[in-house]
Amino acid sequence: MKILVLGQGAREHAIVKALVRTGTERADIICAPGNAGIAADVTVDSTLDQLNPVAVAAFAVAGGFELVIVGPEAPLIAGVADAVREAGIAVFGPSQAAAALEGSKNFAKEVMAAADVPTGLARECNSIAEVESAMDAFGAPYVIKADGLAAGKGVIVTSDRDAAIAHAEKFIDMGVLVEEFLDGQEVSLFFLSDGKSVLPLTPAQDFKRAFDGDAGPNTGGMGSYSPLPWLPAGFVEEVERTVAVPTVREMAQLGKPFVGLLYCGLIVTARGIRVIEFNARFGDPETQVVLGRLTSSLENLLHKAATGHLDSASEPTFTNDVAVAVVLASEGYPDTSAPNRPLYGIAQAEQVAGVEVCVAAATTDADGQLVANGGRVLSVVATGSNFADARGQAYAGLAKISLEGSHHRTDIAAKVVEWAVN
Ligand code: AMP
Ligand code: GLY
Repeated sequence: MKILVLGQGAREHAIVKALVRTGTERADIICAPGNAGIAADVTVDSTLDQLNPVAVAAFAVAGGFELVIVGPEAPLIAGVADAVREAGIAVFGPSQAAAALEGSKNFAKEVMAAADVPTGLARECNSIAEVESAMDAFGAPYVIKADGLAAGKGVIVTSDRDAAIAHAEKFIDMGVLVEEFLDGQEVSLFFLSDGKSVLPLTPAQDFKRAFDGDAGPNTGGMGSYSPLPWLPAGFVEEVERTVAVPTVREMAQLGKPFVGLLYCGLIVTARGIRVIEFNARFGDPETQVVLGRLTSSLENLLHKAATGHLDSASEPTFTNDVAVAVVLASEGYPDTSAPNRPLYGIAQAEQVAGVEVCVAAATTDADGQLVANGGRVLSVVATGSNFADARGQAYAGLAKISLEGSHHRTDIAAKVVEWAVN
């Protein structure tokens, strides 16, 4: 089946690698705009403007694609999935209206309230006076969220009242949500949805903060691992029953059927599971470890979801191997960017047993040398029979890569190794 993967990050590289590994012909995949790292695996077309619905639909029709997989949130919010669907091509990714589950935190809260989905108490605020009164009601630590897309920088969790208010001031024009603080382990769990029914993938954990020990600012994610052996039995079934199924049902009732990937960002609190956010697309870097363990056909699953036939698909299967991903970020990330620096050692990293490198942001210079373009540059993903091995291999792979000024966390999946040993 001819497949167009839309996007240009390590997540899209992971999707491409998983398609190939689970049976799709390499020659049948095009990634656009892609990046120079993805180009090592499949054809890329860097000229496509992925935020232009008309251009993407025309590209998909002209290329004879039978399935379009939308990676990032921005094209979804721009209505790209709607345009492709109107052109008669199956698309894995929600409509603009349904992507509001990610694009508007207030909308997500309304859907959860209507569907009785467990989430933190929150107040929608349109003035700093309202923000302060909500902060007083919930108490510290304060959780302040921008009500719109903010590239992973919209949320602050802090006990510093002045910092909380300063953050609220930055986003008050788009609206701000003040939420009760939820304490517990975070879990990312993805569901495939065809608008009517869902199928779960496997749980993963993301490391959101920039520095070791969960210090520093929130980022898009600095590493991940899967599965989560410390989760209670029945966790996935409970999230399916109490979160994914009622959410998808409510979206259908609203006339905004959710077709695509429902990313449930959860916290496991002493009082039970709570949703902290929905995303309308695969998570990055969780996808690297989730799809890194997939053994059933990704093409088949996503096509069934895109065409409303998920009920005839069998449950996705995963290897018993575990996976660990460590993100390499450029100097200054997440606050500043350091583009145009040569990137060495990917091929050497991939010689380490079980290691694959998913490239997020790279081009080639006139000499064909890979050049990193700032932000999160790549994920080193390792699979192994246990966490000590997978983690060791991921870091051994990372050690082969050099990029001036880059940084990474050294404690990804460290605790789960201890957990598994004790
Ligand atoms: P979000 O973009 O909503 O996922 O928030 C980013 C990060 O902020 C999450 O991954 C959590 O680490 C943290 N966070 C969000 N909401 C809460 C909350 N209600 N209580 C505690 N931490 C939170
Ligand atoms: N890793 C978090 C996200 O993709 O939103």
